[in-house]
Amino acid sequence: KPSLAELARAKGLRVGSAMNARQLDDANYRALILRECETIVAENEHKMYVIQPDPGPMNFAPSDALADFARTNGLKMRGHTLVWHHPRWLPDWINETEFSSPSAAEAELRRYISAVASRNQDVIYSWDVVNEAVDETTGEYRETSYSRAMGGAPEVIDACFRIARDAAPGATLAYNDYMSWEGGSANHRTGVLRLLEDLHKRGTPIDALGVQSHSNQDMPDEFTPAKKRAWRAFVDDVTSMGFDIYLTEFDVNDTRLPPDPALRDRIIAAYTEEYLGMMLEYEEVKDLLVWGMTDRDSWLQTFLPREDGVEKRPAPYDSRFRPKPMRDAIARAL
Ligand code: XIL
Repeated sequence: KPSLAELARAKGLRVGSAMNARQLDDANYRALILRECETIVAENEHKMYVIQPDPGPMNFAPSDALADFARTNGLKMRGHTLVWHHPRWLPDWINETEFSSPSAAEAELRRYISAVASRNQDVIYSWDVVNEAVDETTGEYRETSYSRAMGGAPEVIDACFRIARDAAPGATLAYNDYMSWEGGSANHRTGVLRLLEDLHKRGTPIDALGVQSHSNQDMPDEFTPAKKRAWRAFVDDVTSMGFDIYLTEFDVNDTRLPPDPALRDRIIAAYTEEYLGMMLEYEEVKDLLVWGMTDRDSWLQTFLPREDGVEKRPAPYDSRFRPKPMRDAIARAL
C-alpha cells in the first residue's frame, strides 16, 4: 500500500504531521511518521514560550532534537511559529514589556527571529512567520506589546516577514491562521484577507497562507453549499494575489458527534474527503500536515475534551496506531 507521502508526492504535494519532543522517544510514533510522512512540524518546540519563556538564555534543545530527527531520516520540516501574535500565547515577559520606541520593538523582534530562523536551514523549508494575528470574532488585529509600540499589527507583521527572509532566505514564508470554512466567521476571513492585501501592497516577503484546518465537525448537514461558496471565494481571492496555500494543522474535532466510534469515524472520513477534495482542486495547495498522527497524541483530548469524557477521534490513526477511515479518506483525496 503506498504511503500518504508517496501518494502526495505524485501530485506535487508534501504530506506531514506535527511531532513533539516526547514522541521522539516513542519508537511506534517515530515509525509511523517515517512510514507516512515527508515532513514534520514541531507541535510546540519552536514557539517562543518554549524557546524563551523568560528573558534569559534561549532554549533550542527541543527544536534542534526534532530537526536532527528530520535530518537523520531524510525528512523535511516546517517551522511553527516565529511570532504567535496573540497575547494568550506570548510569554508574560513579552506581554509586560513596554518598548520605548518602534525601533526598540523591532530590534527585539530581530534579535529573536534571526536567532530562531537561522538555525537548521538545511531541513526547514518553510516558516509560519506569524500565527493568529486576527481576532476570530471581530476580524480586527490582535494587539500585543509589539503592535502598541510599532503603531499597529500590520507594521509588526511586515517587519517579522522581512526579518525572517533575511535570516532564512531559502525558506518559504507563511502567515498562518485558523479561519475554517465550516465554522469560521465571515469577519475572520475578511480580516485575514485585509491583512494579506495589506502585505501584498507593501511588498512584504510572504509566500503563502497557512490554513490550519482544525475542523469543527458538527453533523453533516452543517456542510452547506452556501458555506462552501463563501469559502471558495475567500481562497480564490487569496490565490489570485499569488499566494500559495498550506494546510498546516488538519484534524477533525468531534466534540458534538455521537459517541459511537464507528459512526464518528465514518462522518469524519466523509468530512475529510469532502474538505480535502475541495482544497486539493487548487494547484496552489502545496502542503498537507495533520496535527498529530494518532488520536492518542491529539491536543484535542486535553485542550477541548468531549463533555461525555469519551476519547476523541480527530486523527488518521487510532490510539493503538491502527489506520482509521480518516487515513483512507486522505489517501483517496490525494
Ligand atoms: C497547540 C498544541 O497542540 C498544544 O500542545 C499546545 O498546548 C497549544 O498549542 N493552532 C496552532 C497550534 O497554531 O500551535 C496549536 O497547537 C493548535 C492551534
